[in-house]
Amino acid sequence: MADLTPKQKEVWDCFIKEQPKILLASGAKRAGKTFVFILLYLMHIAKFENQGLSFIIGGSTQASIRRNVLNDMEEILGKELKLDKTNAISVFGNKVYCFDGTNADAWKKARGFTAAGALLNEGTALHDTFVKEVISRCSYPGARVLIDTNPENPAHFVKTDYIDKDGQKLKNGKINIKAFHFTVFDNIYLDEEYVESIIASTPTGMFTDRDIYGLWVAAEGVVYKDFNKDKHYIDDIEGVNFVRYFAGTDWGYEHHGSIVVIGEDDEGCFYLLEEHAHQHQEIDFWVDVANDIKSRYGNIFFYCDSARPEHVKRFRRERIKAVNADKAVVSGIEEVARLFKTDQLKVVKSKVSRFDKEIYMYVWNETTGEPVKQWDDVLDSLRYAIYTHTKPQRRKTGGR
Ligand SMILES: Nc1ncnc2c1ncn2[C@@H]1O[C@H](COP(=O)(O)OP(=O)(O)OP(=O)(O)O)[C@@H](O)[C@H]1O
Ligand SMILES: [Mg+2]
Repeated sequence: MADLTPKQKEVWDCFIKEQPKILLASGAKRAGKTFVFILLYLMHIAKFENQGLSFIIGGSTQASIRRNVLNDMEEILGKELKLDKTNAISVFGNKVYCFDGTNADAWKKARGFTAAGALLNEGTALHDTFVKEVISRCSYPGARVLIDTNPENPAHFVKTDYIDKDGQKLKNGKINIKAFHFTVFDNIYLDEEYVESIIASTPTGMFTDRDIYGLWVAAEGVVYKDFNKDKHYIDDIEGVNFVRYFAGTDWGYEHHGSIVVIGEDDEGCFYLLEEHAHQHQEIDFWVDVANDIKSRYGNIFFYCDSARPEHVKRFRRERIKAVNADKAVVSGIEEVARLFKTDQLKVVKSKVSRFDKEIYMYVWNETTGEPVKQWDDVLDSLRYAIYTHTKPQRRKTGGR
């Protein structure tokens, strides 16, 4: 097995020498947090070999536990880990129960349990009560809790309740909480070119601060910081070899309703070709707009805001290929922002007007960590279109 990175070695030494009850690793993506925690957790379970004790692995879903934890564990142990009917695996003569901890009542599954340890993956994706319940379940003498996570808003409970209490001691002088911070540069086993390319494609601002430097920063200022009018506005699309077209739809009445048409070229570059943004228009009007688009671009997909199912149904009745969009806000923004950062999203200047205002006015709400719901109408339809369309591609490339 490869050696540990210097940062992982620090974490390893701390676990063994200082023996904190709760150990956290927070920081950048691909930094090596989960890897060292899996090793430490296996070592911890091995200490209780053949004692038939209970241990916990928590993650947001069973699928993410499989992807992020069990697969690597199998590789390290050199054996297949199959969940039994109780979602448990057997490791070194003990039972390790896998809990999906996203829901508010996930903690109930952990209730009435005495565990000798817990490994919690992606802490910020878990519910506050679940995390607290799991920690209080770890009451067996010598029990330890390992939590890894990417950073989020600094007000997140993982930061305020644990990371900010780094160094906290128990009455007996033992360390209760210890927290380590990882950047992507801490993983010396990542290919240099790979690191360079993820830095180049990570949107400026919050995404770079969190994903690359592992910092707990709030989102602030303009959302699309990498939009550059000199690079991303184009005058014409002559010579572009389009391979596909699709559209995004955001319903609105008081707010602007909006339909955008996107073209994709043979190099994976996207073009905002048309913007239709209007206030106070009924669904009949939008059917006409969509049919007109269909007559010029063919029977293309319309990725629609699912908040008005009756409108989506109406589109379908009119034989417009309407599909509910994936509306995950921050992930969708990250995808659109990534395309601006890598210059893979262009806008035909003469075909937009509302976009030109929104792109500079669309800002983060620092408190909620989501954008302010203003100046978002064209940008939402653009996000629905891009994020939903590129989703199958992302799945193939492992989520990024
Ligand atoms: N010491 C090591 N030796 C060899 N490979 C390693 C080592 N540490 C980490 N890796 C590999 O580097 C990659 C990223 O590590 P890991 O999954 O632990 O990162 P992470 O910080 O948990 O990232 P994320 O936040 O994206 O979950 C993985 O493929 C892992 O197997
Ligand atoms: Mg991880």
